[in-house]
Amino acid sequence: MTDHAPLPLRGAAALVTGASRGLGAALAEDLAARGAKVALVARGDAVHAVAERIVARGGEAHAIVDDVADKGAPHRVAAIAAGAVGPVDLLFHNASTLGPVPLRELLDTDCEELARVLETNVVGPFRLTKVVAGSMALRGRGLVVSISSDAAIEAYPRWGAYSLSKAALESMSRVFAAELEPRGVRFVAVDPGEMNTAMHADAVPDADPSALADPRDVARRLLDAIERGAPLGVRFVVGRAA
Ligand SMILES: NC(=O)c1ccc[n+]([C@@H]2O[C@H](COP(=O)([O-])OP(=O)(O)OC[C@H]3O[C@@H](n4cnc5c(N)ncnc54)[C@H](OP(=O)(O)O)[C@@H]3O)[C@@H](O)[C@H]2O)c1
Repeated sequence: MTDHAPLPLRGAAALVTGASRGLGAALAEDLAARGAKVALVARGDAVHAVAERIVARGGEAHAIVDDVADKGAPHRVAAIAAGAVGPVDLLFHNASTLGPVPLRELLDTDCEELARVLETNVVGPFRLTKVVAGSMALRGRGLVVSISSDAAIEAYPRWGAYSLSKAALESMSRVFAAELEPRGVRFVAVDPGEMNTAMHADAVPDADPSALADPRDVARRLLDAIERGAPLGVRFVVGRAA
């Protein structure tokens, strides 16, 4: 991928997975504030509260309770989202799992645990991309954002299963980019940096929250970059600077 053209978010249809809290909720709320119609996915009912908050502020939002790791989820989610907000223009693969916590070394990671992490963080996004990006290619436009991590490119002890999954997610994003960008569908993997969220607290319980980014700031910087057509490349690192 080279440069992104400016992408008007007003009126766009967006699908955000993992949108009940943390970065996903922040992305959904900011997208809606910019005039996008947003479908939000998470396993728990808390996703309804986020959608209701958006609607109460005058935005357009629809909550979908589903598990991205479930084999049948992509067709259910894509069908409900298309009915609620229209054909998806922007897909955010944000839902993610660390695997078992406390984090453990690869030698101590069961194959089944690794498989569950890959199912949520890679196979689910792969299935959902297959369902959504084909329609984007037919329409000649779309953007697929995969929320990754620096663990995709750095080897941190005890982050093994998560690291493997994020490396695979980024690789998937690059290959889809090479194959589908000529048909108008753009792909970017995004490293959001360390954020003050439930996932970070699970992974690093003794971290100082004041040293972590607010996910709302990260969402704003990412959406600003998308909206103004900043050159994101195949891997975009969201910096701390405003
Ligand atoms: N926080 C950080 O410092 C940090 C750093 C680098 C990268 N990231 C990445 O940033 C993204 C957002 O992380 P976060 O910190 O905001 O996480 P979070 O606070 O734990 O939120 C995760 C969201 O994903 C949903 N989710 C989890 N598994 C799901 C599944 N199988 N199907 C559907 N929804 C699911 C959760 O809701 P339910 O539990 O109700 O499903 C929740 O809404 C992730 O991709 C993460 O890997 C985070």
